[in-house]
Amino acid sequence: MRWPPPISPRRLLLVVLFVALCSIPGTLSSRLVTLDTIDIFTTHEWFHSKPSVYFRCSGDNKTHLPDVKEADSIYTFKGEESWQPLTELPENKCKRCGMYEEDTLLHDDVFDEWELCSSDFKDGKYTHFKQGQFNATFLCPNCTAPTGAATHGSSSEVESKKTSVVVIIIVSVLVSVIVILALFGGYKYWLRKKRERDQLRFLKLFEEGDDMDDELGLSNEF
Ligand SMILES: *[C@@H]1O[C@H](CO)[C@@H](O)[C@H](O)[C@H]1NC(C)=O
Ligand SMILES: *[C@@H]1O[C@H](CO)[C@@H](O)[C@H](O)[C@H]1NC(C)=O
Ligand SMILES: *[C@@H]1O[C@H](CO)[C@@H](O)[C@H](O)[C@H]1NC(C)=O
Repeated sequence: MRWPPPISPRRLLLVVLFVALCSIPGTLSSRLVTLDTIDIFTTHEWFHSKPSVYFRCSGDNKTHLPDVKEADSIYTFKGEESWQPLTELPENKCKRCGMYEEDTLLHDDVFDEWELCSSDFKDGKYTHFKQGQFNATFLCPNCTAPTGAATHGSSSEVESKKTSVVVIIIVSVLVSVIVILALFGGYKYWLRKKRERDQLRFLKLFEEGDDMDDELGLSNEF
């Protein structure tokens, strides 16, 4: 019986690998946070000198806001200033950040400290207001990515894990099938060779038998 031509195992493996690679989720979008506007309502300096305001997230360096010198005036930024962006947010994780004022004598004054999260950004924008201290808007276009990675992060993560488990199972099954087929084919080949060898030996035996008969003169003469 003739089987239809099978898909070559190598091509099958290539297809499976391609699918596996495509199912790795795209985690390449960087969630850079920039300052859009800030309005400080107070300065903490005693001697009415110009304040030195800075922003910092735990684990990051200070970002000084050199233009913010006066209370009660709104500063608007383009997002491309030399000190931008303020920070980069990890996926599905908040950063503890704060707005501070450098103090020349004592420890720095705190405007406010809070958890800055990707999920707080609505349409890439987030306003943080602290009564009597400051009002600032931050931009992060990638924090509200259309993939929904920020809002449905955990579920999509679970899904991608499921996908990779399925891919692993499919690959293992395919590899097992290919190995079994190869072993079976090898065994059949070995059997055929063995049979051919046996047949050859059998025929040879007959021929030798004939030769022996001839030599001993045991032909049909008697
Ligand atoms: C958004 O992510 C893309 C891809 O990594 C990056 O090129 C771009 O600079 C990011 N934009 C912002 C504002 O973070
Ligand atoms: C902080 O600043 C130092 C010196 O400028 C730099 O080497 C380091 O990479 C910065 N760290 C972060 C987290 O930006
Ligand atoms: C904070 O600033 C934003 C942008 O300037 C403004 O729309 C908002 O009304 C302000 N909020 C308060 C409480 O001042």
